[in-house]
Amino acid sequence: MLFPVAVALFAAAAFAPRHASALTRHDFPEGFVFGAGTSAYQVEGAVEEDGRKPSIWDTFTHQGYSYNKSTADVSADQYHHYKDDVKLMHEMGLDAYRFSIAWPRLIPDGRGEINPKGLEYYNNLIDELIRHGIQPHVTIYHLDLPQSLQDEYNGLLSPRFIDDYTAYAEACFESFGDRVKHWVTVNEPNIETIGGFDNGRLPPQRCSHPFGENCTRGDSTTEPYVAAHHLLLAHASAVRLYRDKYQATQRGQIGITLLGWWHEPATNSSQDAAAATRMNDFHIGWFMHPLVYGDYPTVMRSRAGARLPNLTAEQSKKLRGAFDFIGFNHYLVVRARADDSAFNLKQRDYYADASAIADPFEDIQAGGLEYAPWALGKLLDHLKLKYGNPPILIHENGYSDPPKISGKIVYEDDNRSEFLQDYLEVLYLSIRNGSDARGYFVWSFLDVSEFLFGYRSRFGLCGVDMNIKGRTRYVRNSARWYSGFLNGGELRPSGKAYTAA
Ligand SMILES: *[C@@H]1O[C@H](CO)[C@@H](O)[C@H](O)[C@H]1NC(C)=O
Ligand SMILES: *[C@@H]1O[C@H](CO)[C@@H](O)[C@H](O)[C@H]1NC(C)=O
Ligand SMILES: *[C@@H]1O[C@H](CO)[C@@H](O)[C@H](O)[C@H]1NC(C)=O
Ligand SMILES: *[C@@H]1O[C@H](CO)[C@@H](O)[C@H](O)[C@H]1NC(C)=O
Ligand SMILES: *[C@@H]1O[C@H](CO)[C@@H](O)[C@H](O)[C@H]1NC(C)=O
Ligand SMILES: *[C@@H]1O[C@H](CO)[C@@H](O)[C@H](O)[C@H]1NC(C)=O
Repeated sequence: MLFPVAVALFAAAAFAPRHASALTRHDFPEGFVFGAGTSAYQVEGAVEEDGRKPSIWDTFTHQGYSYNKSTADVSADQYHHYKDDVKLMHEMGLDAYRFSIAWPRLIPDGRGEINPKGLEYYNNLIDELIRHGIQPHVTIYHLDLPQSLQDEYNGLLSPRFIDDYTAYAEACFESFGDRVKHWVTVNEPNIETIGGFDNGRLPPQRCSHPFGENCTRGDSTTEPYVAAHHLLLAHASAVRLYRDKYQATQRGQIGITLLGWWHEPATNSSQDAAAATRMNDFHIGWFMHPLVYGDYPTVMRSRAGARLPNLTAEQSKKLRGAFDFIGFNHYLVVRARADDSAFNLKQRDYYADASAIADPFEDIQAGGLEYAPWALGKLLDHLKLKYGNPPILIHENGYSDPPKISGKIVYEDDNRSEFLQDYLEVLYLSIRNGSDARGYFVWSFLDVSEFLFGYRSRFGLCGVDMNIKGRTRYVRNSARWYSGFLNGGELRPSGKAYTAA
């Protein structure tokens, strides 16, 4: 048993005052937003239509590197079905839809001309949402970097990325900011950089031995830091622009969304406790620390030394406070175990300390997700104590099933409903304990092409029949459950939220 004492206290404090089963959405703070999400590359399809050009994800999947060589060329085909989807969202009762704009659809060459057809598509989608009373929560950049910028200057590795990104963000503010009041600059920079430049498993597949296996180029000891640095500066630049030029009239909010793995010590040893703290600093602090305090965490400086870029006084000032909210995508807990041999062997700054689960990527793929709603509570508590309790939106949280066996549609997904209720209960309790969480988005609104697993894992509240041309949607039981909750129904958590088995 891990952390029996802490868990028991948490449970007692959590459950004593009232019956959790009586919770409804009205127990959440005024204005709390409930939604569901997708991202452009994963859901749109139509990758070669109406002037869209390739992103690094198109290149990656077309070269057969994705799971089972799947692509998102069609995926759920939301590009052609957005009206039906908005209708479904409306029927479900979503307050908000979180989606992203495809940079290579809006500005196909990465900079320069706006593609009128791309502009039209997002205008239509946004208008359709607003007509149905659904808030658009828009991510500007969600991993799908235009291939042209990768080819021209190595994308994130060049400081030129910052200007091109800022110009693209400005095109979004200018085109859609009259209607979009919730902007996310960048989605999951803290894993994009690891997947793309450390282990090389995701585009642009850069890494070096012994950190990744199959890369033909890259340097895992430096490039992740450089890419992250440029993403941070690009974020800060877009926030500054929005605040200076658009926020007063458009009256929206802007933030960034991080992947929020929670690292928990694997044992009671003080070494493992230190390892978990270090891992949280590397994973969360990498971005949170500069955004709150204007520099990288001390432990990153001491471990990465001169490989970690410096921030000038000017950059530091621009970063500090550069958010109205922080989004977190929360799925799992990583059991951290101190392992200095791995650190020495590979000089690996990132994963050396997380060897209890050898590699979170593999663990996710193996389906070995630990059921740990309590970890969300720990994450929120950490943000409260360490980073001044910023406004938080849980931007992704969800449960994956295997796809249906061919021809047989699976509506029964009680595990998903139970999962969501357990996490919502923890979220509620964290808010009551002082966390400033303001929204919750289920990943995903409907089945999409998953970045790591293609179509093997389905997270959708609504299913999509990926084998037929019309990509028929069907409503799973979890969507009906969520709809009931959104309409005032009670949460029925399983009571398993606090058992860290
Ligand atoms: C409530 O917050 C305090 C301070 O952040 C923390 O120590 C405690 O564990 C939290 N309790 C629960 C039940 O979340
Ligand atoms: C490297 O390539 C081999 C052979 O194609 C494959 O089995 C292995 O999974 C790849 N490793 C990574 C980390 O992608
Ligand atoms: C942690 O410590 C407690 C009591 O000190 C003990 O009962 C428990 O077995 C320990 N857990 C682990 C994983 O070592
Ligand atoms: C950052 O600054 C320190 C101290 O001035 C210096 O030693 C280090 O080399 C610099 N790092 C980089 C990446 O420039
Ligand atoms: C639901 O979850 C349980 C426990 O994790 C698992 O044994 C079961 O196979 C799951 N059911 C489905 C339909 O996936
Ligand atoms: C892998 O792709 C093939 C060909 O498209 C398909 O028939 C098969 O069902 C896929 N397997 C999985 C596990 O997705």
